[in-house]
Formats: sequence, C-alpha cells, structure tokens
Amino acid sequence: MVTTIGVPKEIKEDEGRVGLSPAGVNELVRLGYRVLVERRAGLGSGIHDAEFETAGAILADLPAQIYAESGVVAKVKEPLQSEIPLLRKGQIIFTFFHFAADRELTEVMIESGATCIAYETIEDGAGRLPLLTPMSEVAGRMAVFEGSKHLESPSGGRGVLISGVPGVEAAQVVILGGGVVGLNAAKIAAGLGAQVAIFDINLERLRYLSDVLPPNVITIYSTPYSIRKKVVQADLVIGAVLVHGDKAPILVRREDVARMKEGAVIVDVAVDQGGCVETCRPTTHSKPTYRVDGVLHYCVANMPGAVARTSTFALTNATFPYLKAIAKDGLRSFLALGEAAAKGLNIHRGRIYHQGVANAFQLRHHPLSELTLIGS
Ligand SMILES: NC(=O)c1ccc[n+]([C@@H]2O[C@H](COP(=O)([O-])OP(=O)(O)OC[C@H]3O[C@@H](n4cnc5c(N)ncnc54)[C@H](O)[C@@H]3O)[C@@H](O)[C@H]2O)c1
Repeated sequence: MVTTIGVPKEIKEDEGRVGLSPAGVNELVRLGYRVLVERRAGLGSGIHDAEFETAGAILADLPAQIYAESGVVAKVKEPLQSEIPLLRKGQIIFTFFHFAADRELTEVMIESGATCIAYETIEDGAGRLPLLTPMSEVAGRMAVFEGSKHLESPSGGRGVLISGVPGVEAAQVVILGGGVVGLNAAKIAAGLGAQVAIFDINLERLRYLSDVLPPNVITIYSTPYSIRKKVVQADLVIGAVLVHGDKAPILVRREDVARMKEGAVIVDVAVDQGGCVETCRPTTHSKPTYRVDGVLHYCVANMPGAVARTSTFALTNATFPYLKAIAKDGLRSFLALGEAAAKGLNIHRGRIYHQGVANAFQLRHHPLSELTLIGS
C-alpha cells in the first residue's frame, strides 16, 4: 500500500507555520508517496493551496480526512484537544511536542497508541539539536531587528540608530551567550555597524566567535563582574544563553537593570527557558514589550512566529530529510538513521522511549532495545 503523508493546518493560536513545503511535497510525490495537505494549511506562511496542488499534493477539506488516511502526519506544534480524538494507533506524528513541560499531553499521547517523534529531541552526531537550530537562527537575527526598532523614540527607546552615522557613534550591543542565537545576533548587529560585545563561558566557543566575526565584535569571558560592567553601558542587551535541560541562569540582576541607561532595550531570547534577565517575563507578539526602571523589555517566547514564512522554510529544510526517512519504512527506517536521531522517538504504542520525558513525570522508561516493531 502507498504510504500517505498528511499535513494538517496548524490550529494553535498565532501559529502560521506549516509542516511541509511545496518542494517537500514535490519530492515525496516524486518518490511515489501520496501527500494530503489540508486546505489553507500554508496560508499563514503565504503558501497558497494551488502551490501545494501544483507540487503534487491532494487537498483535503477537513483535518479528520488527513488523520484518517495518513500513516505519517507532519506538523509543527503538538496536537491540540480537537485533534486528539483523530489520532490513530500506530500512526506516526512528527512535530514539536515538548512533552517534559506538559504532563497532560504526555498522557493523552500514551493513551492514543500513536508514535510520537519529537523535533526537539532529535540529535546529530555531535550532540546538537538540528531541528531547533533553524529557529534559533531566526530568533537570533530577529533579536537585533526588534532591538533596533525598539531603540527608536516612538517605540519608547532612547532614540539611538543602531548603526550610528558618520560623526556619531553606533549603538553598543551586548550579547549574553555565543551559541546559535548569539552568533546570529552578533552577525547581524555587526553587519549594521554596531559595537558588539559577546559573552560566553566556553573558551573554545569564544575562540571560534573571535575567528569568524568581524573586528567590531569583541568576545568576553562571561562572569557576573564582566557582564555588569558592559550591561550598564549598553543600548541593547540580547539574552541568548542556554544550559541544556535546565532553566536559564540569571546573568543580569534587577539592580543591574536599574543602573542601565534610560530607554535602553533588553531582548531576552532565552525567555522560553525562564530568561537570563531577572526582570524578564514572557510577552506576546500583540504586546511584546514592557518597561522596568526605564528599560524596555522585549521577551516574546515564540519570536519565529512573526516571520512564519521564513520560519516554515527554515524548519522544513531541517525536518525534511528525517520525514523522508520516516516515509520510507516508518519507524524502522527512522531508527536506522542512528542512535542520535533515534533520540527523537519519545512515545510508541503507549510506551515512553525517551529518558527525559519519563523522568519528568516519574513514568517508566523503556530502552530502545525493548522495542518490537510490528508491521512497519
Ligand atoms: N524566544 C524565542 O522565540 C526563541 C527561539 C529560539 C531559541 N530560543 C532560546 O534561545 C536560547 C539560546 O538558544 P541557542 O540555540 O543559541 O542555544 P546554544 O546552546 O546554541 O547556545 C547557548 C550558549 O550559551 C552559553 N552559556 C551558557 N551559560 C552561560 C553563561 N553563564 N554566560 C554566558 N554564556 C553562557 C553556552 O556556552 C552556549 O554557547 C535558548 O533558551 C533557546 O530555547 C528562544
């Protein structure tokens, strides 16, 4: 039987991304698979139904048809309440789940008997998270544009043009954390002509940043002392730290914020892990900023949502090779990608195969060696 890959429209609030691009549809169809795409699924990313149809997709009117006919469902966000009854035992759902933060979702997915392969836990051979990287690239670049916009007086900022002009100095940008978000933010800020200081605790990483970034970026070893010294002079501070599997460390304290310049801007990208600025709390695209001690805070937890089209293509470029492997022979061909990719398997036929998810709720973890593949 021909495998059907289904792509429902995302129904989570403010979610404009879609789980597969027209190019991806085209390649899957060329390989002999059937691809069902829900009508209007791509609209939030500026992809019209006709484009999916031209690429070879069959359009479905209702999500129920997608779930009923598809062996593999490619999505962006976790299934929501109205989608849960549509899931079928043995069906593979390939999407962001973030189970460890959601007990109820974990329980309903166990109950459903579906196979859950989570974007966020797939690793590459070097322990990186290749399906999270594209969203960090987007957020890092965006952080500078948002910061720059909010430095303008009408937005409440101190009226500084990030690039400066001949005869007037450029903005001072401080970036906390030199990983994917930090590097991308530094590239854009430096390209605009800002004076950039980037902090990290990993010396090897600082050496790399120093090699690849232009001379208007300085690298600084991160300590509370070195950070405080730079933050109080900054026009724009970008929070970009991550300690894997943990809450973000607080690197800028409330008293440091109080000593910052009036109208300076903080963009705390690490807000999804609690934020690295003590005064950070999550905001939304509709009301992205608030002010503490005269300093504007931008702490939107889903920044890539504002550039859904770019984010869809960035995400699907990264997810597609895995989807192609899943389409081939289901879980069997996915697991054949190797141990690092296999970390993406979170739940299968009612059992948890990811240690972190099991630990989060003190549920039983099943090692992959206990997995028996039925059929697929
Ligand atoms: N808000 C959003 O929309 C959005 C989007 C994408 C990513 N993020 C978040 O951005 C954060 C950064 O993501 P990333 O992909 O760049 O992570 P990453 O792992 O690539 O980089 C994190 C960096 O922080 C450094 N670090 C750790 N502790 C530090 C400290 N005390 N001082 C200075 N540096 C320190 C690490 O050495 C590492 O280089 C994460 O919390 C991620 O979830 C948010």
